[in-house]
Amino acid sequence: MKKKMQEIVAPLLRWYAVEKRALPWREGRDPYSIWISEIMLQQTRVEAVKGYYQRFLQKLPCVSALAAVSDDELMKLWQGLGYYNRARNLKKAAQQIVEKHGGVFPEKYEQLLLLPGIGEYTAGAIASIAFGQRVPAVDGNVYRIYTRICEDHSDITQASVKKRIRGEVAKIVPADSAGEFNQALMDLGAGVCLPNGMPLCDGCPVAAFCGAGENGTYQEFPYKPPKKPRKVEERTVFLLEYHGSYLIQQRPEKGLLAGLWEFPSEQGKLTVGQVRERLAEWESDGSEIELLGAGKHIFSHVEWHMHGYRIHLQHLPEQLTEGMVLASVKQIQSRYSIPSAYSVYLKQILSEPSANSDL
Ligand code: ADE
Repeated sequence: MKKKMQEIVAPLLRWYAVEKRALPWREGRDPYSIWISEIMLQQTRVEAVKGYYQRFLQKLPCVSALAAVSDDELMKLWQGLGYYNRARNLKKAAQQIVEKHGGVFPEKYEQLLLLPGIGEYTAGAIASIAFGQRVPAVDGNVYRIYTRICEDHSDITQASVKKRIRGEVAKIVPADSAGEFNQALMDLGAGVCLPNGMPLCDGCPVAAFCGAGENGTYQEFPYKPPKKPRKVEERTVFLLEYHGSYLIQQRPEKGLLAGLWEFPSEQGKLTVGQVRERLAEWESDGSEIELLGAGKHIFSHVEWHMHGYRIHLQHLPEQLTEGMVLASVKQIQSRYSIPSAYSVYLKQILSEPSANSDL
């Protein structure tokens, strides 16, 4: 099994030298830029990351700029990428680099691992790509490639299996081209050894060493036991409009979409009658209710099925819920980060003529 893995190194590197994707973060070896790209790429596709990456580096070109950025500006730069804790951790890590390392990016894999938001994969990617250290960067792509080559049926959701595969891959990382090797595996996973559908074995530089390619068993790998279905949560979303502005509130500091701004919402699917009852409770009866329709957002463990109502308030409630603010559409666009989970409703208010008025 190990022999096969050792044999892939040279052909893979030759292939990468010719076929590597031209990506903006591959233009230099600046660790800061590579770090930003790796964090953005953790849960987001390459194509989606490109634009965000360029804009982020333009606005925050170095560790000290990131350490000093306001939370609101940071969230604006990240808006749409999702998994906002990644951005919060970036800032925390930048502050640590300034405080503990005098603003100089730490080079060692073990030092990188101590920074918030940097796990084994990301530490391996940065240490190898920016600093040429001989460490692996093993993610889902690499588990797929490894288990196909070795026709290994182990359950890759098990930590012990991941650890073993990581150890096997670590042994074959070449000392003089660790960064290229890790990126070659990334490109192989992204363009050739594809998940789900058909891998493109005809164009694979390591097909000659691949058990699954040879035997046509690629669909069996990587093996994962069946998943539990995601929890579905019905929510009613209130767009509380007053003279073209909207009441929004900040989510709790912990948990899903922590600290981001949102339209008030309530668990369950409320009927118009129930919405009227709510308005009476808020002493806003007499307001006009507009049905906005359904929206859906899928998170990793939960699915929101949303039902939206826009309520044209006749007057503002005497006492706003603590933390609630009235924001014009322009302010919502420029200052408050409303996550893309609410995009159905956001699009609706942004596309209306009142979006250009400034209350
Ligand atoms: N995915 C994660 N890191 C990457 C990188 N450096 N290049 C391309 N895809 C990636």
